[in-house]
Amino acid sequence: KKTILSGIQPSGKLHIGNYFGAMRQHIKMQEEGDAFYFLANYHSLTSLNDGDLLKEYTTDVVLDYLALGLDPDKCTFFAQSDVPQTTELAWILGCLTPVSLMEKGVSYKDKIANGLSPNIGLFSYPILQAADILIYHSNLVPVGEDQKQNIEISRDLAGKLNRAYDEELLRIPEEYIVKSVATVPGIDGRKMSKSYDNTINIFAEGKDLKKRVMAIQTDSTALEDPKDPETCNVYSLIKLFADKDKQKEVADKYRAGGYGYGHAKKELLGLIEEYFADARSKRKELANDMSYVNDVLREGGIKARERAEEVMEPIRSATGLFRSF
Ligand code: TYM
Repeated sequence: KKTILSGIQPSGKLHIGNYFGAMRQHIKMQEEGDAFYFLANYHSLTSLNDGDLLKEYTTDVVLDYLALGLDPDKCTFFAQSDVPQTTELAWILGCLTPVSLMEKGVSYKDKIANGLSPNIGLFSYPILQAADILIYHSNLVPVGEDQKQNIEISRDLAGKLNRAYDEELLRIPEEYIVKSVATVPGIDGRKMSKSYDNTINIFAEGKDLKKRVMAIQTDSTALEDPKDPETCNVYSLIKLFADKDKQKEVADKYRAGGYGYGHAKKELLGLIEEYFADARSKRKELANDMSYVNDVLREGGIKARERAEEVMEPIRSATGLFRSF
């Protein structure tokens, strides 16, 4: 059985880019392999210094995942901070990482350009991410396209450690990216991302959801004129939610003319509401039972820490580090 691993940063509300680009695959793959999914709360510290808020976001992501169908009996679902071996391995990997490798990080440059403070945590973020992946001997990492470079770095660092100590201490992982949803576009057509403020949140509802959908940018083709669905931001989102027949029906209306962007947005709004209806009510139920959420994290954390320790011990011994008690 393959070991599958992925994580999400609890740093705000999750959006449909997170869902289609990553979470949907996570939920599917819990049936297929030995899956580990975690809340990357150490990573959140690179951009968030508010303890109460971090806890709140972390609980939110747990509820989101569970409501969307993650089953803690089928996978190991946990918080990164319950596995301190992660930061231990990150330090060791960091000592093998050339500064120049981090300087090439596109995600770092992007975050700085978007106003995040260039702290060392943010700079060395991919090293911690490599540790996340490598500490469970993961084979496959299901993510969106924006994480591709980080997975490449983790492969690179695993190889460096193995060569440095001339031993197969770490397994070399692969990314798993679904082409059609590798980069889900936001309401302005750029990659959907919290930092671009162009998201539609998974659990937005009512007026808030409607406002976001109505704000999707379109061109100024007149209502009566034919339109090209393939270049339309509304249609590219419709494609995520609609089955093939529905997609074709809408595309035909675009091409025929007399169908406006307002109509398409109403269609999309209905599709989103229907798609997440069950998850929405499940989430409300779950939010009433926080002791369940805590139990899930504790059990997942125990399992994850055990596995991590198995991988970490030979590394301590190869590097000359130790636990004396
Ligand atoms: P994060 O929290 O930014 O995003 C979580 C997942 O959602 C995917 N994603 C998208 N996919 C397609 N289109 C989009 N517009 C879109 N926006 C987000 C991301 O690719 C990701 O898969 N560094 C990671 C968290 C992390 C991690 C790890 C992931 C930490 N350690 C180890 C995998 C393995 C991050 O910030 O993802």
